[in-house]
Amino acid sequence: MDFKYLGHACFQATIGGKNIVFDPFIRGNDLAIAAGINIDEVKADYILVSHGHSDHVDDLLYLAEKTNATIISSWEICQWVVKQGYSNIHPLNVGGTKLVEFGSVKMTYALHSSSFSDGSYAGIPGGFLITGEGKTIYYAGDTALNSDMKLIGEYNNIDHAILPIGGNFTMDSNDASIAADFLKCKNIIAMHFDTYGFIKIDHNLVKQIFTQSGKNLHILKIGESIAI
Ligand code: NI
Ligand code: MN
Repeated sequence: MDFKYLGHACFQATIGGKNIVFDPFIRGNDLAIAAGINIDEVKADYILVSHGHSDHVDDLLYLAEKTNATIISSWEICQWVVKQGYSNIHPLNVGGTKLVEFGSVKMTYALHSSSFSDGSYAGIPGGFLITGEGKTIYYAGDTALNSDMKLIGEYNNIDHAILPIGGNFTMDSNDASIAADFLKCKNIIAMHFDTYGFIKIDHNLVKQIFTQSGKNLHILKIGESIAI
């Protein structure tokens, strides 16, 4: 499988021949635009949405309508999507699993908040545990460090964990390194950093934190892919 970083918390993965987009936010992300990411070139069979904040759903309807992808997200976000006139959805709530063509998608707990940009309720936030091609990937979503990650690590063999490292609104890199210990996962892909002033990171310092504890931190350039 393959994960391409499209900036902020947005990835396009290819698993079992299907395209899975996480938290579409491209047109409003100056860094993604500067890196030449064109939303009209993004392929999606599934769109997974962790929570309702605008830096995760801004391009959701645009991309869904263009691709006719199945949106997998919380019940509340799916209901909101239906109200906007788009019906190819599959609602989950935390703890629930959906079998999909490429494997499975389980919605996990995230310690964060979730509302739409007009302030309306978007359910509780989540992350996703993805299986496919015999591998397991954990996409944390926006979250603080939390002890549920120990449970995830205890009962799953996670190949790569995609974790926020930008701090301020989510875990910082110190907490993300602890999260990786909880998850029993040495391969980390960074997200949710540098997009805004609030979450700018010192790349060398962050890399040190992970290498000192024997972990592989991948800070992908926007547009860069990693084969897993
Ligand atoms: Ni958020
Ligand atoms: Mn966010």
